Amino acid sequence: MAKLSILRYPDHRLYTVAQPVQSVNERIKRLVADMAETMYDAPGIGLAATQVDEHIQLLIIDITEEHNDLRVFINPVIVSSDGSAVHEEGCLSVPGIYDKVTRAEKITVTAMNLAGDMFTLEAEGLMAVCIQHEMDHLLGKVFVEYLSTLKQSRIKNKLKKRVLETM
Ligand code: NI
Repeated sequence: MAKLSILRYPDHRLYTVAQPVQSVNERIKRLVADMAETMYDAPGIGLAATQVDEHIQLLIIDITEEHNDLRVFINPVIVSSDGSAVHEEGCLSVPGIYDKVTRAEKITVTAMNLAGDMFTLEAEGLMAVCIQHEMDHLLGKVFVEYLSTLKQSRIKNKLKKRVLETM
């Protein structure tokens, strides 16, 4: 396994729309293993392929503290959603920034797993937030785009400054 580098907002590659995965082959399995290592190391609870500059419809989630429940979603589709809820979100591509986002409270998602089998998951709470957040990445959308334009430009400036500080 290898740790991958995570694209940082406002890197334009984060705006790429991901393509469907055609087949769950060895390349995909290796990518998932590398993404899991990258996510756990960060540490984070979700990572979309977009964030590691792979523009395919693939995301991983593990919301457990023990890091022992890795969920893989390939070509995910939200087939129904209900209610709305506000949660504070963060993102490995937007380090150090947290803000409230309103999303569906409950969702039903269908996707393919790493064995190539379709599954359906009903999710609420943190899992529902995380799935919606990561699926946005696949559409080329970062959570800060839900915030006001003023907040977005402040965040951009803050992150650009941080890049300069580490050069
Ligand atoms: Ni994110």
